[in-house]
Amino acid sequence: MSFPTRRLRRLRTSDKMRELVQQTTLSPKDFICPVFVQEDLKEKVKIESMPEIERLPLSDVNDEIAAIIDLGIPAIMIFGIPSQKDEAGSSAFDDNGIVQKAISQIRKKFGNKIVIMADVCLCQFTSTGHCGIVQGNKIDNDTSLETLAKIAVSQAKAGVDTVSPSAMMDGQVAAIRKALDENGFTDVSIMSHSAKHRSNFYSPFRDAAECAPKFGDRKTYQVPYTNAREAMMEVETDIQEGVDIVMIKPALAYLDLIAETRRKYNVPVSAYSVSGEYAMVKAASQLGYVNEKDITLEILYSIKRAGADMIVTYFAKSASKFLQES
Ligand code: PBG
Repeated sequence: MSFPTRRLRRLRTSDKMRELVQQTTLSPKDFICPVFVQEDLKEKVKIESMPEIERLPLSDVNDEIAAIIDLGIPAIMIFGIPSQKDEAGSSAFDDNGIVQKAISQIRKKFGNKIVIMADVCLCQFTSTGHCGIVQGNKIDNDTSLETLAKIAVSQAKAGVDTVSPSAMMDGQVAAIRKALDENGFTDVSIMSHSAKHRSNFYSPFRDAAECAPKFGDRKTYQVPYTNAREAMMEVETDIQEGVDIVMIKPALAYLDLIAETRRKYNVPVSAYSVSGEYAMVKAASQLGYVNEKDITLEILYSIKRAGADMIVTYFAKSASKFLQES
């Protein structure tokens, strides 16, 4: 009788043995929790396609941050929904804009108890719904860079720790770094949406943040999901431009790119598990087709296993609770 040369089952014999050899870990410390703040809102508004996620009025933001801190989550990502939109997206770089107000309020109340990150983009703030400035029928790259830099500086003035450009304009990291440095914000870091794909997984977010493009699509600026080498060039360019943390977005359908970025570079790698990833799990769980807790944790562990150091995720709060239970 011949025996198997290797018995991998030996290290699966008990819970404790499995714990001992567990390679990938997951903790609330891995999460960055998105927060939607809407100007002139009286009460929280539920986002239908994203169960348990809400748009908050400024007056509810501190309670939300306190709950996030309590769960052991170290960072938030602020998205603002302004009352006024125009072609220039001017409410995005208004020192009294909704995002700036939220940042300074959180900083004042919580000091350094939470890392404050904010989205730097135009689509919520432009009447066109595009992530850059529209001139004629084009999204003009270099005019957009000036605006993105102004947004970053105004967020820095409000007290942000990390700005997170998601517009996918060429040169956005360099333009923002230069403007931050020139204005004395050398310590404000940049987590760029480096390889943000033209994805169909964003549709629930567009309801959440009212930022769907009014004409056309985002194909002239976001990365096609067919092109892995192009995605890696985006990452490489951001590193050359001085980015502090790179991001692959979405996460679950892009684990190959997370793994490749991890192998090739030494910068911290974040992954953005986007609205569609969240909505699919929630919908299937509500129908009883999958177990929400098990599926949520498996997805997040997989993103970590692929090589992400941190995950921007709408599961941040629910997964933190699941991790406490388990
Ligand atoms: C806008 C922005 C989008 C997301 C984050 N920032 C939407 C888009 O590009 O259309 C998507 C996030 C999500 O789906 O969770 N710059």
